[in-house]
Amino acid sequence: MMGDIILVTGGAGFVGSHLTRKLLDRGYSVRLLDSFVYGDGGLAAVRDNPRLEIIEGDICSRGDLGAALDGASGVIALAALVGDPACELYPQKTMQINYESTRDTVAVCKEFGVQRVVFASSCSVYGANGDNFLYEDSRQNPVSLYARTRIMSEDYLLGQDDVEAVILRLSTVCGVSPRMRFDLMVNTMTACAVTEGKVRVQGADQWRPHLHVQDAAEAFIAAYESPAAAGGVFNVGTDEENFTIGEVAEKVAAQVSGTVVEYGQGDFDKRSYRVSFEKIRNAFGFRGQRTVDDAITEVHGLLRSGSVSDFRGDLYNNAKWLSNNDRWRGAA
Ligand SMILES: NC(=O)c1ccc[n+]([C@@H]2O[C@H](COP(=O)([O-])OP(=O)(O)OC[C@H]3O[C@@H](n4cnc5c(N)ncnc54)[C@H](O)[C@@H]3O)[C@@H](O)[C@H]2O)c1
Repeated sequence: MMGDIILVTGGAGFVGSHLTRKLLDRGYSVRLLDSFVYGDGGLAAVRDNPRLEIIEGDICSRGDLGAALDGASGVIALAALVGDPACELYPQKTMQINYESTRDTVAVCKEFGVQRVVFASSCSVYGANGDNFLYEDSRQNPVSLYARTRIMSEDYLLGQDDVEAVILRLSTVCGVSPRMRFDLMVNTMTACAVTEGKVRVQGADQWRPHLHVQDAAEAFIAAYESPAAAGGVFNVGTDEENFTIGEVAEKVAAQVSGTVVEYGQGDFDKRSYRVSFEKIRNAFGFRGQRTVDDAITEVHGLLRSGSVSDFRGDLYNNAKWLSNNDRWRGAA
């Protein structure tokens, strides 16, 4: 409802910086809670919007959560340590940020009578899961701490009576964001092709669903606004955007001329999941509007524009940034 103050945690992130902008464009007031692990550059275009209130704080602090939830109509919870490699670096911090903070968020929501909690989970909860289409009630087979903490948070949220939890299991996200990441499959492959002329592929036959970052942001708004979503778990993506890793590499090579695709063997990420998005389509009409091909075109354009000097820079890669940043080095 217009006039609502929506709290977005992690609103300066890859997905969050798009979501914040879209909510403001729709007339919402946004309160953003973020500890700016990767800085606040993603907010440059919206920082001065009078309907945006920025709180620099930590979702692990009950005090910061209280300041952020007081007067809010609902929360979209994106803040997390994101990605398998980043979480493996700091297991204890990962448990605090990706799971214990969910319990704290619920407790503070109850204190302030905030009901709607839209939570960012991940299709990586399906883990190593073969070739068949996976539905929301399919077997989970997580292969990483990151995925396990998403499941723990989901289970906790769904067990609470006094909050209306909505769980969104996002596909692997791609495309350009004001807070850019190059540690996501489509973005990494495109950057390698454009700058090095080569894409290396391991696990070519493994399935992954993909979702454009702007569509991810739209899904959070649709879930926030849909009364029917309460208590639901939804895979977020589009059936046609499930591709094997090898297929993504070939798509990149088709757009970036001269790209060589090298297929490797060996010990690699065992995740494989091919996901159905029938439920979210039927529940609130969500369909991604953009494709992997669109994301490749966008990332290619960004790199050609010269605004990214080194896509391998630490800030574009969560695990690299966390392992090279003093504030985090002491946190293991
Ligand atoms: N990007 C993907 O492919 C993907 C896929 C599935 C699910 N998701 C989920 O979507 C959400 C957003 O992912 P993203 O790609 O935007 O990640 P991101 O790393 O770009 O952003 C995370 C944001 O959370 C903030 N943050 C981290 N710890 C915090 C803390 N303790 N307190 C306050 N803020 C904190 C960071 O500063 C950052 O702005 C995450 O919950 C993630 O699990 C993302």
